[in-house]
Amino acid sequence: MSAEAERFLVTGALGCIGAWTCAVLAEAGVPVVGFDLGDDRRRLVLAGADSVPVERGDITDRAALERVVDEHGITHVVHLAALLIPLIKRDPPYGTAVNIGGTVNVLDLARTRGLRVAYASSAAVYSDADDDGTPVPNDAPGHPTTFYGVHKQACEGLARIFWAEEGVASVGIRPFIVYGPGRDAGLTASPSLAMAAAARGEPARIAFGGRTQLQFAPDAARVFVAAARAAAEGARVFHLGGPAVTVAETAAAIEDASGVRVEVDEETRLPFPEEFDGAALDAALGGIRWTPLAAGVRQTIDRARAVPD
Ligand SMILES: NC(=O)c1ccc[n+]([C@@H]2O[C@H](COP(=O)([O-])OP(=O)(O)OC[C@H]3O[C@@H](n4cnc5c(N)ncnc54)[C@H](O)[C@@H]3O)[C@@H](O)[C@H]2O)c1
Repeated sequence: MSAEAERFLVTGALGCIGAWTCAVLAEAGVPVVGFDLGDDRRRLVLAGADSVPVERGDITDRAALERVVDEHGITHVVHLAALLIPLIKRDPPYGTAVNIGGTVNVLDLARTRGLRVAYASSAAVYSDADDDGTPVPNDAPGHPTTFYGVHKQACEGLARIFWAEEGVASVGIRPFIVYGPGRDAGLTASPSLAMAAAARGEPARIAFGGRTQLQFAPDAARVFVAAARAAAEGARVFHLGGPAVTVAETAAAIEDASGVRVEVDEETRLPFPEEFDGAALDAALGGIRWTPLAAGVRQTIDRARAVPD
């Protein structure tokens, strides 16, 4: 399919990864429209994608989604709309409707409209029970310990059935810790919040320590776009991979870029494996170019200074 014929829909476009996905597409001149429940365009502004139109709607509303897909002649979907752990806990039935039902709505529309779909799964399909001290292989079974992780695992399973029974192709991506401008919700937003605080000249404390993988939001967005384009066959799912770093190194990079002191709570560890093997994604999509940590941190701080809250 030629780039001219592509028209992307980004669900969850007002979120961190969604805003950057809109930015990547808009910068490349690819027609893109967002779909989101909210109306706060702050992250789109941060990502430099404020020109991208966003249709307001709930991903659980199949008719609303269908209308947007048809009105805009959509060919590709990057499906990111989801509720994270604290919001699901407040209302598990609605959280399940959004995270699982919303994904089924997207896959079912792909069935009737022939769309190419990339969707966000999560490293949360795994837990520390899946950590044997080596990078988790791409096809390792997961043992999630949260509603959210089970939702994402169910989405992967449903995508597999949509391919097997309905011929709907998809690519699922499992991000771990995405960081960058606009990442501000949830426990794993802590490194990004520290960068935003440093940009304001305020000392910060990252709420967990140890070693992890940090994935710069614009890089993650490029992966989602490439994944949607590659979703011609099968129901593949990939770890996002990315640079493995210690949280202490991350704090040092923030200090270097800002001159502000950043502490790390080394007593608290995330309940996930430390590292996921990204080789399968590299092989499938042709090698991901990751922004080095120091450069990503510097860009995040610069962007926060250029676009203050
Ligand atoms: N950020 C990470 O580190 C990370 C890690 C693993 C997985 N993911 C997944 O990647 C995706 C994007 O993450 P993010 O960090 O950008 O999240 P985010 O919370 O910043 O954005 C999610 C967006 O979805 C929208 N949304 C929520 N419910 C909706 C509904 N019912 N209908 C329409 N829109 C709705 C929200 O308004 C929000 O703008 C999510 O699916 C998330 O589970 C993210």
